[in-house]
Amino acid sequence: MIVQGSISFPGDKSISHRALMIAALSSDTSRIKNLSDGKDVKSTEKCLKQCGITINNLPDETISLKGKTFIDPEDDLDCENSGTTIRLLTGLLAGQKINARLIGDNSLSQRPMDRIVNPLSKMRLSIKSNSGKLPISIENSNIRGIDYRSNISSAQVKSAVLFCGLGAEGVTNYYESVKSRDHTEILLETVGIKLNRDGNKVTVNRPTKSPTGLNISIPGDPSTAAFFAGAAAIVSGSELILNNVLANPTRFEFFNSLKRMGAGLEFISSWNETGEEVKNIKINYSTLQAIKIDKDQIPGLIDEIPILSIIATQAVGKTEIRDAKELRVKESDRIRSIMINLKNMGASVEEYDDGFSINGPTRLKGARIRTYNDHRIAMAFTIAGLIADGKTELDNAKCVDISFPGFFKLLESIVK
Ligand code: S3P
Repeated sequence: MIVQGSISFPGDKSISHRALMIAALSSDTSRIKNLSDGKDVKSTEKCLKQCGITINNLPDETISLKGKTFIDPEDDLDCENSGTTIRLLTGLLAGQKINARLIGDNSLSQRPMDRIVNPLSKMRLSIKSNSGKLPISIENSNIRGIDYRSNISSAQVKSAVLFCGLGAEGVTNYYESVKSRDHTEILLETVGIKLNRDGNKVTVNRPTKSPTGLNISIPGDPSTAAFFAGAAAIVSGSELILNNVLANPTRFEFFNSLKRMGAGLEFISSWNETGEEVKNIKINYSTLQAIKIDKDQIPGLIDEIPILSIIATQAVGKTEIRDAKELRVKESDRIRSIMINLKNMGASVEEYDDGFSINGPTRLKGARIRTYNDHRIAMAFTIAGLIADGKTELDNAKCVDISFPGFFKLLESIVK
């Protein structure tokens, strides 16, 4: 069996959430093509509709959106499984002076929300949570700007503060020690909202003129492409072309790491789409070497660590991932989820409080995978199943729908 073909992906999930929310700020009609078809982005769409935003499907995988006047939702906004929806939307609605109550599913209800509650309270937003967890309630308040230095590198927190800053009196400054993904900044600038960006500091003021509509074709999701790149990197004799992949430098550490491991990686072409770098990438199977991932690289590949851990089982030597404690508060405790499943497949692993190490190469054996209903765990271990002896089964294959409902079909099309 080899992995072979030339494939494209639905739009990047992080940009899709932001495109909807930022387009919602404009009274012009926006057109968004190649929006992520995952359930998380549907949650954002549904919540925005409840707040009075008009969203329609057009032919050719495009949606049109008309926004500007937000209304208080009559019912709770259910963000379901989506951390990006709840954290960004809370900031956005606060900046638009909306009263709302936000809830989520079991997984989201266990995830930390104090990281947004704290800065938004400092902006004098009336915000209540359940001891730093869901539900969150916000009330129309006279918010004001802040100088905020975040002790975590989180684009969700940064975006919540910047969105809230759009409706605040005075200046909002946000600093982070390692730069997180900057799609919010890029899209705000695209619709004509002025920001000041200086290294890891972003400054925003209440805009003086209305933002324009957004016309965008969203580049393919690199966090989804990573699973397919991973398959080509570990199945002997494979060659795969990944088309139209978002290559924003704050999202590209997985591909940089694959290159460092010795995978055959070629950037066939590069271009720019609405301020974002995009690439066509060719990847070939090759013998892989273990690497160390350091602190500054973690934010740039945080969502790709599950698939990177599978690849590490095939690399020669000890791959070490540290300073990645954030993994413990994702859709599942991903350090645990990865360790438990890799051990069941016979890999040689060691767990740390803030990461893990993997000694390779190991011949994996098939196992029943505990997904913990986490889409990235399900997809990563499906790829592991391609090279494992015997059968690999997921306890919940459906959870891939969170980011990529077409995952299994696309995978089948390239496994020859
Ligand atoms: C995201 C930011 C990251 C990432 C998540 C999506 C975003 O989370 O893990 O999947 O779209 O802003 P953090 O901001 O919490 O690091």
